[in-house]
Amino acid sequence: MTATPQITERPSLRPRKMDFPFIEHDTPPERYWMGGSRLFTHMANGINLLFPKGERFFIRSVRAFMDEIEDPTLRAQVRGFMAQEVRHGIEHESFFELLEAQGYEIQPFLALYDRVAYTWIEPRFSPQMRLSVTAALEHYTAMFGEFALSDGLPFAHSALQDLLLWHAAEEIEHKSVAFDVLMAVDPRYGVRVSGMMLATVGLLTFWFLASRELMRQDEAMRDAGAITGEPPQLRQRAHEAYVAFWERPTFRGMATGFVDYLRPDFHPDQHDNYEMARAYLARIGRLDG
Ligand SMILES: [Fe+2]
Ligand SMILES: [Fe+2]
Repeated sequence: MTATPQITERPSLRPRKMDFPFIEHDTPPERYWMGGSRLFTHMANGINLLFPKGERFFIRSVRAFMDEIEDPTLRAQVRGFMAQEVRHGIEHESFFELLEAQGYEIQPFLALYDRVAYTWIEPRFSPQMRLSVTAALEHYTAMFGEFALSDGLPFAHSALQDLLLWHAAEEIEHKSVAFDVLMAVDPRYGVRVSGMMLATVGLLTFWFLASRELMRQDEAMRDAGAITGEPPQLRQRAHEAYVAFWERPTFRGMATGFVDYLRPDFHPDQHDNYEMARAYLARIGRLDG
C-alpha cells in the first residue's frame, strides 16, 4: 500500500442538522430548478430519490463490521460517518415533499427501488461485498462533492445549492471511512474492484430508472395540461447546463476517478480536497457542527 495520511489528520466527523425549508423557502425552487433544464433537473431529482435509502444501506454495510474495527480513531470516524449519513437521508427526504407538491408520485418508485435493491439484491451479496460497494459509492459521492464545490453549482436554485453543497462537503469529510473499514476487514483487490463494478452498474441503472420515471410523469402532467408553458428561458438555460456538465471536466473527472480507484495502491486521501470542504463549511458558519 502507498503511504496513507494518518487518520488523525482528517476532520473529526459530526452531523450537522440543517433543516432546509424547501417548501417554505422565500422563493420556492421552480419546477426545473437545475438551470431551467428539464433533463438535468430530472437527473438531479432522480439521484436525489436514491440517496436516503442508499445512505441507510451504507450505514448497514459499515455497521456490520463495527466489532471488528480495533483502531479507536477509525471507530470514532465510523460513528461520525453514520451520524452524517443519517442526517443526509433526513434532509434529502424533506426535499421529497417538494417533489410531491409539484405533482410527482414518487412512492411507487421508492417502493420498487427498495424491493429490488435492498430486499432482493442486497442479501445476495456477502457483508464484505456490500461494504466494498459502499466504499466505491462513497468514492463517487466524494467526486460528485468535489465537482459541486469546485464550481458552486451556479445553475441550481439557491435552496438546492444549499442542500447539495452541504452534502458535498460532508461527503468529502468522510470519504475515507468506508474504504478504511474495507481495508481493515478485507483488503483483497478483487473484492474492492468487484464492489466498484457492482456499484457503478447499480448506480447508473437506478439513476437512469429514477430520472426516466420523473421525466415520464412530467410529460404526463404536461399532456394533461397540469403544467402549462415552457420553463423560462429554457433554451438558453438548458444550453448553460449543457455547457456546465459536458464542457467542464465533470464527466471526464468521473472517468478519471473511476480509473483511479482501480489502481492497486489507491487510497481516497491521496486526493487532497479536505480543505475545499472545510472552506465551504466555514463560509456557511458550520465548520464546527
Ligand atoms: Fe451522504
Ligand atoms: Fe457518504
